[in-house]
Amino acid sequence: MTDPLSLTRRTFLAASGAAAATAATAQRVRHGVAPAAPANPLVRQRADTQIFRHTDGNYYMTASVPEYDRLVLRRSRTLAGLATARETVLWRHLSSGPLSGFIWAPELHLIDGRWIMYFAAGPSGGGEDVFRIRTYALVCDDADPITGRWSLLGQLTTPWDSFTLDSTSFVHRGVRYLLWAQREPGIDTNSNLYLAPLKTPITLAAKPARLTVPTLDWEVRGYKVAEGPTVLPRNGQLFLSYSASATDDRYCLGLLTCADDADIMQPSNWTKSPKPVFVSSEATSVYGPGHNSFTVDEHGRDVLVYHGRDYKAIKGDPLFDPNRDTRIQRIYYNADGTPDFGIPVGNGPLPYRMAPTNRSGAFLRLRGDRFEIGTGSLASTQIRQVAGKGGSIAFEPIERRGERLCHDGAGRVVLARDDGSAGIAARSSFVPVEQGRDRRAFRLVGAGGLYLQAAGDEVRIARGLQDASFMLS
Ligand code: AHR
Repeated sequence: MTDPLSLTRRTFLAASGAAAATAATAQRVRHGVAPAAPANPLVRQRADTQIFRHTDGNYYMTASVPEYDRLVLRRSRTLAGLATARETVLWRHLSSGPLSGFIWAPELHLIDGRWIMYFAAGPSGGGEDVFRIRTYALVCDDADPITGRWSLLGQLTTPWDSFTLDSTSFVHRGVRYLLWAQREPGIDTNSNLYLAPLKTPITLAAKPARLTVPTLDWEVRGYKVAEGPTVLPRNGQLFLSYSASATDDRYCLGLLTCADDADIMQPSNWTKSPKPVFVSSEATSVYGPGHNSFTVDEHGRDVLVYHGRDYKAIKGDPLFDPNRDTRIQRIYYNADGTPDFGIPVGNGPLPYRMAPTNRSGAFLRLRGDRFEIGTGSLASTQIRQVAGKGGSIAFEPIERRGERLCHDGAGRVVLARDDGSAGIAARSSFVPVEQGRDRRAFRLVGAGGLYLQAAGDEVRIARGLQDASFMLS
């Protein structure tokens, strides 16, 4: 049975789209030494990315490739190392039949001691519709998923034979669940989100619960979509993020929240955020952020993993634009324990928040064109450290690309565009002075003994280390 909606969901372009992506992929895959700290984009042309830190201490990463023809896996001891880690092909689509076309959005899970990789697949051109996408699983019984032997376990069985994709699995209160996107006959959407306990990796132990249907304006732009679900259990709640709308710059993250002691199979126990929680940003030039997963950094701090493009305009079907790059950034939490994803932080080293040790709960932040010590949007407190003069660093607010925190020569700081001049370099370059884990002072280069200081709400450049310590997070 062809899913009529899936035809409109994805107007199919000629295979040349995938061929062009192959050339683009070869040209843009990054090589070279892994950076000491992660920078965005982490991995070019890898979409729908899943990164998780396994109990073996390694990070494992899988994702959709632009050619949609294979399942790949990377492993690294560090998040940054994924950027250049060798990519192993675990499995390629078949030469004919229902798994000979697109291969989408893989996820790797360890279920009852067996490596399972969920993915969505469809038939190749001609005959059936290439968007007759269904969900399958591979299995590997070896300890090492990179070198182990993989085989097809089978197709996921659900109550409907329809467009099925983006499966993820998690354990909650001792029960293993599957969470996925599917089109349900009789509901006029491309996909909704479903949850069910698992009997085996590809058979459900109960009738699925339909957790959400895309109905809000930001969920139905271009296509009526709820997909790419994943769960973050934190602070006594389950935070279920998902992606909505067409996969162009309108693609964004929504959030469902449920108390972790509630019956998660009861849709009414899930509360949907009325607004998207992560959207495109002109200021940082990241568009269509979505299909996320969650991991932790080497310090155990929560990290949002997502894909996004660094340009807005797309020619043709966004599904065949290969430049959805893997990106990561820190997750912070509001006072009520809910996550604050902020905005996509943009290309370059990951930004920090700088909290003066002489003032709890406040940060160095930009308000309008002024730096101050205070509180405000997460984005206003995220400051990127970029290259300064002669190996020093400079401070770039993430929403003001190309602008720097500068000494005005009279003890105050101003925001000034980096025009490449020696003057700006001299006034915006600082030497970090280690003061303990994640604790720094910043000495102005050249002007001996002048430090960035926090004085009440003011930011100043003054002599001495008092008021000059900042905690970086
Ligand atoms: O990237 C291929 C598909 O497009 C993914 O499965 C889905 O999340 C996205 O919209």
